[in-house]
Amino acid sequence: MCGIVGVLGNHEVAPTLVEALKRLEYRGYDSAGIATVQDGKLDRRRAVGKLVNLSDALVHDPLPGKSGIGHTRWATHGQPTVSNAHPHTAGRVAVVHNGIIENYRELRDRLRHREFTSQTDTETVAQLCEEFMDQGLSPRDAAAETLNHLEGAYALAFLFDGEEDLIVAARKGSPLAIGHGEGEMFVGSDAIALGPLTDRITYLEEGDYAFVTRQGVEIRDAEGRLANRETRSIPMQAASLDKGGHKHFMAKEIFEQPVVLSDCLSQYSDDGQVTLLEGLDFTETDRVSMVACGTAHYACAVAKYWFEQLAGLPCDVDIASEFRYREGPVSPASTAIFVSQSGETADTLAALRYVQEKAANVVAVVNVPESSIARESDVIVPILAGVEVGVASTKAFMNQLGTLAHLAIMAARQRGRIDAERERELLNVLRGLPGLINLALAQEEAIMRRTAKLAEARSVLFLGRGAMFPLAMEGALKLKEISYIHAEGYASGELKHGPIALIDKSVPVIVMAPKDALFDKTISNMQEVMARDGKVWLITDADGAAEAGDGTWDTLVMPRIDPVFAPLLYAVPAQLIAYHTALHKGTDVDQPRNLAKSVTVE
Ligand code: M6R
Repeated sequence: MCGIVGVLGNHEVAPTLVEALKRLEYRGYDSAGIATVQDGKLDRRRAVGKLVNLSDALVHDPLPGKSGIGHTRWATHGQPTVSNAHPHTAGRVAVVHNGIIENYRELRDRLRHREFTSQTDTETVAQLCEEFMDQGLSPRDAAAETLNHLEGAYALAFLFDGEEDLIVAARKGSPLAIGHGEGEMFVGSDAIALGPLTDRITYLEEGDYAFVTRQGVEIRDAEGRLANRETRSIPMQAASLDKGGHKHFMAKEIFEQPVVLSDCLSQYSDDGQVTLLEGLDFTETDRVSMVACGTAHYACAVAKYWFEQLAGLPCDVDIASEFRYREGPVSPASTAIFVSQSGETADTLAALRYVQEKAANVVAVVNVPESSIARESDVIVPILAGVEVGVASTKAFMNQLGTLAHLAIMAARQRGRIDAERERELLNVLRGLPGLINLALAQEEAIMRRTAKLAEARSVLFLGRGAMFPLAMEGALKLKEISYIHAEGYASGELKHGPIALIDKSVPVIVMAPKDALFDKTISNMQEVMARDGKVWLITDADGAAEAGDGTWDTLVMPRIDPVFAPLLYAVPAQLIAYHTALHKGTDVDQPRNLAKSVTVE
């Protein structure tokens, strides 16, 4: 989603702002802009499309000044046009904003005597602030007063005419970080944007606003009281925003999986036992409720099989946007687990707030331990995947699965459903996975060849049974996200209840099926497809391939693995299929159209 940067520097800031915005590109955007104040005067440049267009505009029309704010916009209110791009200005005020001002219509009505130049909700913030300045308030007071009138979610940065040493920053529902330099100060919607500038970061808390000057920051809480917020040293991932020799971040992240999964496994198990999950006790839990969006939701759907089969715990899995409004009953003895790579997904956060005080334990399984979802949970379980830049989630999915597998094994052991020996066996299967994933990655050539044909399809089906069913849905999501080919994932057994009507020779069917207890049934489903001229791409192990015999469009042979944790291994071909199909189609793999990395609006 949108990205914010702000710099009170000692040099010309335009290049620094654009550079910092580049580090936020991964969040997804469709226009960008910067504003500076120079000789007391505000000015701005904005451009639609990629940042290179903004850079070009700055070459032709440079923007001087040592103080500035910048923004990448992902359109919500109004199309991606120059006039809707941020920063928005009103007289002496410039504003950049992430989130949605829900009462903007009401505010616009109140300000109808003023001249608006965009269709955005954000412009009302600039206009309202200028209105308060017209009434005699100082820039600081006008900005603070403006915040009192805003409803919705925001991270905001204000810059003012005549104020070369002031940025007012505010956070409510959307994160904002303040960076401390030497005689310079910075603002960023995440610490990544500020990576090359500083590693000393203060996160604003919900409702905080801050007066940032080159000398430091004065933070006030929602009631206007001076607030003391911790300044932390955040290890900067300058290197991790490098593609590491790969063509795309997504490829880099797929190939990092053996390493990041190993990090996760060593964190959560030692000597055949699950470790380091203090604060989590499933002994008295009567139900696990897991809530997430997108890929994180599919990770939960896989983990449901583990909680139910290993730990004997009933488990509900919900899409956050549905769960938050369904107002379903929450058992006071339940453990609620919220899974989110970014930790900022608006629907997941809202669902968490609905459950707080109702469930016995609220657990955040997140990749960003400083995120809002983490901060509002009772227990934080980091997935340790490192920064994920590609919009299509890959290594975070892998480590969500790895982390949830440990939680399920721990629950099983605490509830007496497995003994120490079985715990050790299960952990051994997990420990073998990084090596097996390397073998799966070595299948890239074979996948690349087949995807040349797959890229011609208009529609693709993915089938799986048991825990491979949610993986089939994840495979379909990956494919549609980055190749724009329509794809759906189904439970194999569901095929003849409707989707089989779609089958003809133009619809490839990717069957993800390790040789397990239900493999025979999957073979029957494949036969049903092939009998209708459907093209089956079977992904299985050597035993499965031998049993399935000839007649498939293609068969990809994966290493053997205990079926219980097969989804982690089979995620790799699903990701590589999506990636190489997208390459054949020439789409924008890391920043697919219309998508954002962190979805901070409903
Ligand atoms: O940051 P989160 O894990 O909460 O994000 C949830 C989804 O938006 C995310 O997984 C999305 O579906 C990805 N683009 C999938 O590749």
